[in-house]
Amino acid sequence: MIYIAPSILAADYAALGADVEKVPTADLIHVDIMDGHFVPNLSFGPDVTKAVNRVTDQFLDIHMMIEEPERWFETYIDAGGDRLVFHIEATNDHINAAKKLHDLGVEAGFAIKPGTPIEPYLDDLEHFEEVMIMSVEPGFGGQKFMPEVLNKVVTLREHIANAGLSTIIGIDGGIGESTIKQAAEAGVESFVAGSAVFGAHDPAEAVEKLRGLATEARPADAV
Ligand code: DX5
Ligand code: ZN
Repeated sequence: MIYIAPSILAADYAALGADVEKVPTADLIHVDIMDGHFVPNLSFGPDVTKAVNRVTDQFLDIHMMIEEPERWFETYIDAGGDRLVFHIEATNDHINAAKKLHDLGVEAGFAIKPGTPIEPYLDDLEHFEEVMIMSVEPGFGGQKFMPEVLNKVVTLREHIANAGLSTIIGIDGGIGESTIKQAAEAGVESFVAGSAVFGAHDPAEAVEKLRGLATEARPADAV
């Protein structure tokens, strides 16, 4: 299945509710949380997340670009997060972190920066509903897609298939009409898109266009 996740980092913050309502066709809403430490930028926090959750029933994927993510789990779950995706580089105990999220009743994901290898984590995938491959350095929207991270997607896809897991492979950064196909071909199922959706004249149409391109490019043996 293909999931398209508009990132509200690229929305108009003075009209956030209206912008979220422009993407009813999206499968989930991607909420980028930055703390100015883990990444050199600040975005928004739990109150804005709560406000977004108030205007939509859509699934909220919380991308936690923050240090000590475990400290904030309850806060972002209370704010409406349905899946919390923390950075593998920001924790010393990713398996316990995932267990904690499951105990709290939400899905668990980890995100991984472009320069971090995936191999050390391949045997831990059963604990995660999603692995999010960063295809830009986290911190800013509108950056250029890094195709070299697709090697990690291929490795993950093979491993997930061999192990019979249902972990979803996501990608985040620089996804648009010109890059989504190569990511889908490599085996990505869940696509975050910020500027390509909210920078478009018709965001709902942009979501459908991206979905169409990804569906066409998906490997024939993918479920
Ligand atoms: C970057 C964020 C992304 C960002 C993507 O650190 O994690 O989710 O919003 O923006 P685009 O799609 O514009 O690259
Ligand atoms: Zn993100």
